[in-house]
Amino acid sequence: MKKPRHLLGSHAPQPLKESFYFVLIILFLLEIAGAQTTRNATVDPSEARALNSIFQRWGISGTDQRWNISGELCSGVAIDDTAIRDINPGIKCDCSFNNRTVCRITALNLDQNYLTGPLPASIGNLTRMQSLSLGINALSGELPRELGMLIDLRLLAFGTNNFSGPLPSELGNLTRLTQIYFDSAGVSGPIPPTFSSLTGLEIVWASDNELTGQIPDFIGSWSNLLVLRFQGNSFQGPIPPSFSNLTSLNDLRISDLSNGSSTLDFLRNITSLGTLVLRNNNISGSIPSNIGDYQSLILLDLSFNNLTGRIPDSLFNLSSLTTLFLGNNTLNGTLPAVKGPTLRNINLVANRFTIDNSNGR
Ligand SMILES: *[C@@H]1O[C@H](CO)[C@@H](O)[C@H](O)[C@H]1NC(C)=O
Ligand SMILES: *[C@@H]1O[C@H](CO)[C@@H](O)[C@H](O)[C@H]1NC(C)=O
Ligand SMILES: *[C@@H]1O[C@H](CO)[C@@H](O)[C@H](O)[C@H]1NC(C)=O
Ligand SMILES: *[C@@H]1O[C@H](CO)[C@@H](O)[C@H](O)[C@H]1NC(C)=O
Ligand SMILES: *[C@@H]1O[C@H](CO)[C@@H](O)[C@H](O)[C@H]1NC(C)=O
Ligand SMILES: *[C@@H]1O[C@H](CO)[C@@H](O)[C@H](O)[C@H]1NC(C)=O
Ligand SMILES: *[C@@H]1O[C@H](CO)[C@@H](O)[C@H](O)[C@H]1NC(C)=O
Ligand SMILES: *[C@@H]1O[C@H](CO)[C@@H](O)[C@H](O)[C@H]1NC(C)=O
Ligand SMILES: *[C@@H]1O[C@H](CO)[C@@H](O)[C@H](O)[C@H]1NC(C)=O
Ligand SMILES: *[C@@H]1O[C@H](CO)[C@@H](O)[C@H](O)[C@H]1NC(C)=O
Ligand SMILES: *[C@@H]1O[C@H](CO)[C@@H](O)[C@H](O)[C@H]1NC(C)=O
Ligand SMILES: *[C@@H]1O[C@H](CO)[C@@H](O)[C@H](O)[C@H]1NC(C)=O
Repeated sequence: MKKPRHLLGSHAPQPLKESFYFVLIILFLLEIAGAQTTRNATVDPSEARALNSIFQRWGISGTDQRWNISGELCSGVAIDDTAIRDINPGIKCDCSFNNRTVCRITALNLDQNYLTGPLPASIGNLTRMQSLSLGINALSGELPRELGMLIDLRLLAFGTNNFSGPLPSELGNLTRLTQIYFDSAGVSGPIPPTFSSLTGLEIVWASDNELTGQIPDFIGSWSNLLVLRFQGNSFQGPIPPSFSNLTSLNDLRISDLSNGSSTLDFLRNITSLGTLVLRNNNISGSIPSNIGDYQSLILLDLSFNNLTGRIPDSLFNLSSLTTLFLGNNTLNGTLPAVKGPTLRNINLVANRFTIDNSNGR
């Protein structure tokens, strides 16, 4: 009775044969329903050990939670429809393993729990984890290399913490990652070359760390990238020309690059941008002449660079633009007499504009 649909669809010649199969199918379905009410899946014992050891370290008691009912970790809100962000601290489980007898932990949320000390290496034992959130705590020490064992991870968040040391090269093994959040995490050093494998990344928040070296060329091949935040690190320029391939970007923020000079040429085909912040990056050359094509642009901040030439008039007429910061450049020429209605915040100080009293051009 493995394929009831096939049996129904077969060419049964007599009605009697059909009803025989019908009864069989009903019995089959009843058996499944019965099995589900009498036998519940339980969490993999080694995962239970790992999670309990992690929680003991932080004095978190799973017994007080709406999951871990009567000692079973994968019960209650851990297996119903409640979203993981609404369970804190919390886990989610997938109970379909070993013919639905074994549950594995797929999500762990420890955001904003006043956690201190290192992240235990045994986190790497939860190998079916898809979502791990540790943000807004005071975790310290180096990130454990064992994070690289969580090869099913889609989301990894450890921002606003007090970690130190480098990003482990093992994170490059997390090839299913689509989102990584680590603003203000405390990490330092270069972006590991192994990160070239993370081509599925869509959202990357990495601002306000002490990342050094050049921004890697290979980021230009993360072709699914929608959001990249690289402000307030110790990177050196230039912005890699390979970034011209990131045509899906809608939020790009890079600031405080030292050394190497960049231009804005790479932007030419990235016209879906909504937010573009490129402050203090030693950018020279002019504002792209096709800036009028950037109809989704809401915020544009190119302050503290070495931009020259005129501002294209079309920039003052973009349909969505509300904020325009171009201060501290060497822009010149005249400004248009009128601006679009959405444009509310403008800062153009410290440039070389000429005042045009004739209103002509
Ligand atoms: C299985 O879980 C259901 C509800 O989730 C519960 O009513 C039932 O008693 C459990 N069965 C066993 C054998 O633990
Ligand atoms: C994690 O896995 C390793 C290797 O299988 C094992 O030696 C260790 O005891 C596990 N740690 C915990 C806390 O379960
Ligand atoms: C879950 O409950 C059991 C028994 O009530 C307890 O021993 C265990 O430590 C709890 N698990 C966690 C992660 O706190
Ligand atoms: C899966 O479990 C069901 C009962 O829930 C059983 O009838 C079936 O034989 C099991 N399949 C395997 C491959 O163990
Ligand atoms: C962060 O860690 C440093 C040592 O690495 C320590 O001096 C500092 O007090 C810590 N800050 C917080 C908020 O825990
Ligand atoms: C994970 O990454 C490290 C260093 O980048 C590498 O040596 C190791 O072989 C990788 N492990 C797996 C399972 O791919
Ligand atoms: C952009 O992508 C294309 C193919 O996807 C590749 O051939 C080209 O080298 C890339 N350009 C840069 C500057 O990385
Ligand atoms: C923009 O796209 C056009 C057409 O696909 C291509 O010829 C050009 O090289 C691209 N410009 C940049 C800066 O990538
Ligand atoms: C800046 O670049 C120059 C030449 O490319 C190099 O000699 C110098 O070491 C760089 N500065 C820093 C801080 O790396
Ligand atoms: C860019 O401007 C800064 C100050 O605004 C200046 O120190 C620097 O020399 C300029 N760089 C170039 C390449 O013009
Ligand atoms: C504006 O600056 C450019 C070079 O930066 C120069 O060629 C041009 O003559 C200047 N225009 C005016 C009106 O000053
Ligand atoms: C930016 O412009 C302001 C206002 O003119 C000036 O005080 C400041 O020194 C400038 N900063 C730089 C880095 O050029």
